[in-house]
Amino acid sequence: MGDHSMASTPQESYEALIARVQEVATLQSCAGVLHWDRETYMPPRGAAHRAGQLAALAGLAHEKFTDPRLGELLAAVEGTDVVAEPESDAAVNARELRRAYDRATKLPRELVEEIARVTSLAHGEWVDARRRADFRIFRPWLEKIVALKQQEADCYGHEGSRYDALLEDYEPGATTAWLEGVFGPLRDALVPLLEAIKGAPAEPDVSILARSYPVDRQELLGRVAAAAFGFDFQAGRLDTVAHPFCSGIGPGDTRLTTRYNERDFGDAFFSIVHECGHGLYDQGLPADHWGTPRGQAISLGIHESQSRLWENLVGRSLPFWRYFFPIACHVFPEALGDVSLGTFYFSINDVRPSFIRVDADEVTYNLHIILRFELEQALLSGELAAADVPGAWNERFTAMFGITPANDAEGCLQDVHWSGGGIAYFPTYALGNLNAAQLFAAAREAIPDLDEQFARGTFGDLLAWLRENIHSQGMVHRPPQLIQIVTGKPLSHEPLMAHLRAKFKPLYGL
Ligand code: CO
Repeated sequence: MGDHSMASTPQESYEALIARVQEVATLQSCAGVLHWDRETYMPPRGAAHRAGQLAALAGLAHEKFTDPRLGELLAAVEGTDVVAEPESDAAVNARELRRAYDRATKLPRELVEEIARVTSLAHGEWVDARRRADFRIFRPWLEKIVALKQQEADCYGHEGSRYDALLEDYEPGATTAWLEGVFGPLRDALVPLLEAIKGAPAEPDVSILARSYPVDRQELLGRVAAAAFGFDFQAGRLDTVAHPFCSGIGPGDTRLTTRYNERDFGDAFFSIVHECGHGLYDQGLPADHWGTPRGQAISLGIHESQSRLWENLVGRSLPFWRYFFPIACHVFPEALGDVSLGTFYFSINDVRPSFIRVDADEVTYNLHIILRFELEQALLSGELAAADVPGAWNERFTAMFGITPANDAEGCLQDVHWSGGGIAYFPTYALGNLNAAQLFAAAREAIPDLDEQFARGTFGDLLAWLRENIHSQGMVHRPPQLIQIVTGKPLSHEPLMAHLRAKFKPLYGL
């Protein structure tokens, strides 16, 4: 079907639309390879040329996606028989392409360019401010970014909450009020649990995790775990980077990354398991729908649920270590030879208030997110000035954790997100934890002997359940509906709190 001639039937328009959208996705996946290469193997002096390559591809993809002809094809499909069945592949694609097309075309070009310009400059200023622990360096940039994000939210349109407009980028269908309804009770339940743990008599011996764990053997152990969970290394890789991520390049090509520290058992191991969870999702997406919403991950909060489920609910569980601890002892006989399973299990489940989000444990992690969620809303609404962020941060942090950051590098300057314009991104991390616990509880009901399976090193039933209920679904449903359909209940804090209480109360002798 000639793309230049007017398509004559809705079905022909749909096919022309999909061809264009897949072309955009192909360009984006080329950028994905270049990005992965930049983080792994590119020589340092290639950076400037690589930036040019990535900018050219991003510009080309944006131009193709916002082409008015794409909008015409979409309009020629909407309301026709092609999309009559709401959960059909075509209807899902049309619905999600409409959402993405409208968002991509609603922002004036000057605003897009100004955000790109300011955030690229702000990144360096943030790096400098964090290194010197001096918020004054970053303050004018945060002011500019908040003002630009306010404009962006107003361009998208919203019913009173600018935060809603920005959330839509990361978690389609989520609203501020809905998040508050889940995060509020979560906060109220987490704070007393943390207080109880802080006062508990038992304490893990974390020093065993700082013994010598040779890096080559850490990599081996991580590969063994990922393969046991079902990660296909014929369709994926594991490489080394400074900041771990997973890159789903396309069907048959999913790339995990991690970093190693000889004196830290957990850093690499749990990051490999985490990224493997993302990778299993990417490997489970329907390949024949690649490049269209029907074949894409539903949201960041659902993607993160897959990484957290494997990292925390499987990878930090006692049944898993019943199987895997003897393997770890075999790989690290010097470090683990005198350690019991119980001692090891407690050490990888250490809970304590700490300043840095990325180092936080299962209990405190979500409090770090709730703090950011509250501050971001106040910034966007204009209630909180950028200049007042450090004070507001420290006051709320102390109230939640009982400790006060010594400086802003330990406080409001620790994360990269705001410098890149990523406001409203943080909630997806906590949603990942909440979704993971609720999905895992449902999986446990469907597979009653899950613990016995893990203890035998069998993870295939769990993966098959995730494939069927989550991975193969692409974007058929919005995240809140998916959770309702798969678990039979709306998302709530209860499954996560039930998991945390059942795990940590006995561990800490409470
Ligand atoms: Co993740």
